[in-house]
Amino acid sequence: MKLLLLLLSFTALLQADRPLGLTSLTVELPETKLKGTGEVPEWLSGTLIRNGPALFNVGEKYVTHWFDGLAMLHSFRFNHGEVIYANRFLRTSAYETMVVDKSLDFAGFGQAGSKTETAFIPNANVNVARFANNLVALTEIPLPVIFDKSTLDTVGLFSYNDMLPKSKIWECAHPHYDAKSGDVINYQVQFFPEAKYVLYTMKKGSSVREVIAEIPVKQPAYMHSFAMTEKYLILVEFPLLINPQDLLKGGSFSSHYKWQAGKQMRILLVSREKQQLAGEFWADPVFAWHHINSYEEDGTLYIDMAAYEDATGFGYAPDLVDDPEHKLSARFVRYKVDLATKNVVKEALGSSIEMPRINYDRCNGKQYNFVYGYDDYGQLKGLKKRGLVKIDVRTKLLVSWSQDDCIAEEPVFVAKPDAKSEDDGVVLSVVLDTKAKTSFLLILDARKFTELGRVIAPHHIPYGLHGEFFPK
Ligand SMILES: [Fe+2]
Repeated sequence: MKLLLLLLSFTALLQADRPLGLTSLTVELPETKLKGTGEVPEWLSGTLIRNGPALFNVGEKYVTHWFDGLAMLHSFRFNHGEVIYANRFLRTSAYETMVVDKSLDFAGFGQAGSKTETAFIPNANVNVARFANNLVALTEIPLPVIFDKSTLDTVGLFSYNDMLPKSKIWECAHPHYDAKSGDVINYQVQFFPEAKYVLYTMKKGSSVREVIAEIPVKQPAYMHSFAMTEKYLILVEFPLLINPQDLLKGGSFSSHYKWQAGKQMRILLVSREKQQLAGEFWADPVFAWHHINSYEEDGTLYIDMAAYEDATGFGYAPDLVDDPEHKLSARFVRYKVDLATKNVVKEALGSSIEMPRINYDRCNGKQYNFVYGYDDYGQLKGLKKRGLVKIDVRTKLLVSWSQDDCIAEEPVFVAKPDAKSEDDGVVLSVVLDTKAKTSFLLILDARKFTELGRVIAPHHIPYGLHGEFFPK
């Protein structure tokens, strides 16, 4: 008993030494009404579901990377001015490994298992989406996991009813949607026998992926997201490349990607109408996790991203490393591609932004004004404060929200039902209050970027990744 207590206190000590955002949350709550201050708009009706890692340790052993924490879903259901919260781990083989078997012997983004071949477990902690009338949790290493919107219970793995490979591939966890048809558009990387990017569409309500185009590639790039306009699908091939054979050697997924200093960045355009490669352009490189938006105007293609100088931060977790050169801070970067001359100009607005979100339904692939995100200056050891920003991409004007000791997460824009302008709605962000040691859901008026209200969660919510608002 004494030994157990000693072990428990040792674990608690290690937990206490970690940033709160990377400290495990093990409590799971059924629907619980939250209290707060200010106003929750009456018109806001639906559920914000966020996904992210929440269990980082087994005893005193911790996963190597933030992304390898066990997937937990958090829901905030809005009902006539009330907010009802629930949270639940996904029950997958990853849960079996970490919680039931109490093992960290698995291969993940930064985690290297003991197996000789890099074999991945479906720890779907990156994003949530709607596939074929199901809500699914996504990771980059399939398969998607179906969950129940009300209870957050895990239903099972999502089965694609097609012949595309379902293992030894990588699949993008940031699918696009066609605004008119509701079809899903996404891409996967097939590593074997010959590597290729495979872009596909999945019709609304269907679980069959139909190939749009295949692009053979010797060394695939790590591309966390991609862009879509009315005419094109756009892959920006950062020079962070993998030799697929290395995946057969074991180790973590991220360890096999190498930044090729001095190499140009390739921009690939796929015609949605002709279903084939329509252009290839070269530019000075950056690295980005997230595209913001893209659109065409007068023969120029605009590609906006939250970009880093290089991939220094690729294998790092935020809040655990120092960053004296600000290499871990993403900035708003715009590439202007002259489609006729193939000339590419890079334009840096300079504003720090990560986890960018736009009014997607209205603006994706079109000219737009506003992007929301969190400011990314503070990805340092001992992070204490991180605010939210709203950037006017035309005037370059920026407004922000922040609070001492508070770390804001990805802001999700929700439009008013009768919206009169692009920013007529609210922005929802889960904020970690490091002093109160809890989290709250912040509701900002998206137009003025001022607080309408907040509701307090019953516990801290570890740093999450992405979420979506699903209207009622
Ligand atoms: Fe992402």
